[in-house]
Amino acid sequence: MAEFTLPKNSKIDKKIGKTHKAKSNEKTSGKKHEKNIRVFEVYRFDPEDIDKKNPHIDKFEIDLNECGPMVLDALIKMKAQQDSTLTFRRSCREGICGSCAMNIDGTNTLACTKAIDDCDKSETIKIYPLPHMPVIKDLVPDMTHFYEQYKSIKPWLQADEPNNPHKERIQTPQEREKLDGLYECILCACCSTSCPSYWWNGDKYLGPAILLQAQRWIVDSRDEASAQRLDELEDPFKLYRCHTIMNCAQACPKGLNPAKAIAEIKQGIASRKA
Ligand code: SF4
Ligand code: SF4
Ligand code: FES
Repeated sequence: MAEFTLPKNSKIDKKIGKTHKAKSNEKTSGKKHEKNIRVFEVYRFDPEDIDKKNPHIDKFEIDLNECGPMVLDALIKMKAQQDSTLTFRRSCREGICGSCAMNIDGTNTLACTKAIDDCDKSETIKIYPLPHMPVIKDLVPDMTHFYEQYKSIKPWLQADEPNNPHKERIQTPQEREKLDGLYECILCACCSTSCPSYWWNGDKYLGPAILLQAQRWIVDSRDEASAQRLDELEDPFKLYRCHTIMNCAQACPKGLNPAKAIAEIKQGIASRKA
């Protein structure tokens, strides 16, 4: 049987976690109401805490009658009322910026579009950072390598004709349509961090998010570097570590299908050889 060793300080210490009791707004609002308590278990890791080196889980009781409907609303309430040190990223709260990606209820998704009501009602709601990424603090993963990989595909328009502010680069509706299913990607990394190939070979394999972005430029009729882009991707690790396991398509909170984009890149390379 294969044995994997975990990195130092990665095991959850079950002895440390705290329970934060629900805080009520009744004092400020003056209104009494029935409570509807739901318990959230949240991953905590503070690299500067020298006494408690391993991560732990804190429990937060939240009165859902005083909380917005989304998991992000619950996290904001925890931080505002129970523990101001709780750390997570968020910005748009509209599923547009991709910054609140995390693992909720066992699935990579966006905290701002995941409804509390859609989480498994028979369990406490478990919130962890995106898997298989180094953690900076609590729910904040280190995306440095992911962004370096993104930079490596040159995610900008490459054309011989210099940019002219008085002339548009025209596309037909059919050419524009080819970008559908690709341009909507918000680079949240939910797909890449759910891909087993990316877990094991993420140092060299570009992963579904970056490959979908690569395909977005390959099929753009205004881009003139498609051939070089395919040349650069034709590599046993960058592209061919995808084994069509399809976790990526299931994980994408925008309903995109990175596995299909990867298959199209492979097809593009194969058809050049035919
Ligand atoms: S289809 Fe490819 S990219 Fe998607 S999860 Fe599977 S191996 Fe990863
Ligand atoms: S393809 Fe979907 S899951 Fe992957 S980065 Fe883009 S939006 Fe996120
Ligand atoms: S806060 Fe922007 S996607 Fe969730």
